[in-house]
Amino acid sequence: MKPYYNNFFGEFGGRYVAEVLRPSLDELEKAYVDAINDKSFLEEYRSLCSDFIGRPTPLLYAENSTKALGGARIYIKMEGLANTGAHKINNAIGQGLLAKRMGKTRIIAETGAGQHGVATASVCAKLGFKCRVYMGEVDIKRQHPNVFWMELFGAEVAPVKSGTATLKDAVNEALRDWAWSFQDTHYLLGSALGPSPYPDMVREFQSVIGKETQEQVKELGLDVAAMVACVGGGSNSIGFFYPFLGKDKPDLFGVEAGGLSSQAGDHATRMDGIGKPGIVQGYKSIFLSDDDGQVIPTHSVSAGLDYAGIGPQLAHLGKTGRIRFEKAMDSEVLEAVRFFAENEGIIFALESAHAGAQAIKLAKKYSRDKAIIVNMSGRGDKDLFILARELDKDNWFSFLKKEINENAK
Ligand SMILES: Cc1ncc(COP(=O)(O)O)c(C=O)c1O
Repeated sequence: MKPYYNNFFGEFGGRYVAEVLRPSLDELEKAYVDAINDKSFLEEYRSLCSDFIGRPTPLLYAENSTKALGGARIYIKMEGLANTGAHKINNAIGQGLLAKRMGKTRIIAETGAGQHGVATASVCAKLGFKCRVYMGEVDIKRQHPNVFWMELFGAEVAPVKSGTATLKDAVNEALRDWAWSFQDTHYLLGSALGPSPYPDMVREFQSVIGKETQEQVKELGLDVAAMVACVGGGSNSIGFFYPFLGKDKPDLFGVEAGGLSSQAGDHATRMDGIGKPGIVQGYKSIFLSDDDGQVIPTHSVSAGLDYAGIGPQLAHLGKTGRIRFEKAMDSEVLEAVRFFAENEGIIFALESAHAGAQAIKLAKKYSRDKAIIVNMSGRGDKDLFILARELDKDNWFSFLKKEINENAK
């Protein structure tokens, strides 16, 4: 049997959970290792990736952007074209199939931007599970369109008021639920973090992004100098980078949320020396925390990167230097959304636009015969309310006022 399972990545990872959660994680680990070695499971996963998600996603040559920026050729891995609009569904369908195999009837999940919640709700509709998604009240407000989609898929969206009412609080609530419900419930965690086997399992399901990219690069005969992905918890980046980790090249860039400033509470950059090792939510990694080890509030214009922790494998790869971590400020992110919309006719999700912003900075650093690949982890339709407010405030507000007045009659 293949050893598809790592408890630790260097010093990071592990399974630091209360006794009550151990049986569910033991059961999950066993089911995962069995499934990943079972051809029929992999066949079903591949078939749903193709017919339900729409894989492979294209690798687009961003010709106009390349011309505008000068330097290396920019390519965009179009995960935003996946069903439900982001990479999150690669993992949701994998874990959904696993839950079916384990005989579970109910699925719970946490969500930040709502993309993982939408992906999970969609998979539950497809595979026939009851579904409850925990979402912080702050995120419910800023990503409301996704609440609508989750409910349309038949999921219950449970608002979380505790803490900062964002992603970390939603994870806490989901873990609390699972502690008493695991007999019939699977916790479909949405990023490559949490207690083992989640970091390994989520990376495995997301590595479809990197494997496809590898094939597409070969077909096109590209000389890839750099790959760039945004980093919230870390699932799109680790899945995208995974097949490329074994060698020194290409350069791999993980981009965190620089937010408004480098002041505590204004950002979510864990890997630029500010984050500290700690154990939170069942795993050891780097966290933005105070002297007592309690996580501190974070900020990002993108709900999906607004999180105090980072997946343990990425923390390890950052420490060893294989992945370089950079940040993009909120203002640069909005500019990147506008740049790729105007030049390529595509809308990056605010999360993914962190990677876009880094590619804009990097283009000139590499020569014309090289390629830079940006993972567009999601598309920005969900961000309409934020983007329109930030980029076209007056028109947007007058439209909203008119809608409300007309509908109030
Ligand atoms: C489009 C998109 N990209 C990236 C992320 C960040 O998550 P991760 O780092 O796990 O890929 C999110 C999270 O919600 C997202 O919706």
